[in-house]
Amino acid sequence: MSNPFRLGVLGSGRGSNFVAIADAIAAGKLPAEVAIVLSDVESAGILAQARERGVPAQFIPPGKFRTKLEDEAELAMVEALRMARVDLIVLAGFMRVLKGEFLRAFEGRIVNVHPSLLPSFPGLQAWKQALDHGVKVAGCTVHFVDAGVDSGAIIGQQPVPVLDQDTAESLHERIQAAEHELYPQCVAAIARGEIRVAGRRVVRSR
Ligand code: GAR
Repeated sequence: MSNPFRLGVLGSGRGSNFVAIADAIAAGKLPAEVAIVLSDVESAGILAQARERGVPAQFIPPGKFRTKLEDEAELAMVEALRMARVDLIVLAGFMRVLKGEFLRAFEGRIVNVHPSLLPSFPGLQAWKQALDHGVKVAGCTVHFVDAGVDSGAIIGQQPVPVLDQDTAESLHERIQAAEHELYPQCVAAIARGEIRVAGRRVVRSR
């Protein structure tokens, strides 16, 4: 493992989780550095946020599919992440599923944040699924990425209440605030070598 611990962050959206991670690093709470940020969306806020902070940021055209990357794009991402010598891939609002080639290249070294208490509500707009279902407690999950959809071993979860007057937007905002606390904490535990995986169970070894 290189020193310092190097993160490769992938995102498709505005990048608030990337900002939370960058802020935690700057505050000395996360012993790592962001080596590279990649996006499948040229106009994504995450690329602008990275560039503002002097982090190398690259748009990789995803190809013709909507929910996955074309093989060529996936290989370009693997290549960019290898060149950046990343120790951990951090998915921060990356809205495409990663396939075999990518998963094999970084086996056990990819994490994701999902806006629900998994295994409830995998997939898209999880906060809206939770609200429509009528649950009273929602939240977010940080998990390792496997070949399924939001199905890998769970590293951490943070609950938030669902209020009677909530809209999809207000609930999503509360869940995102929880993500911004939970995600840097989980990545810091991995960077410090405090995480041990035993089958589906992820335990703190310290
Ligand atoms: C986050 O809320 C994250 O949980 C969600 O996308 C948002 C990205 O926000 N990810 C998924 O739904 C993945 N299944 P951000 O770009 O501001 O970090």
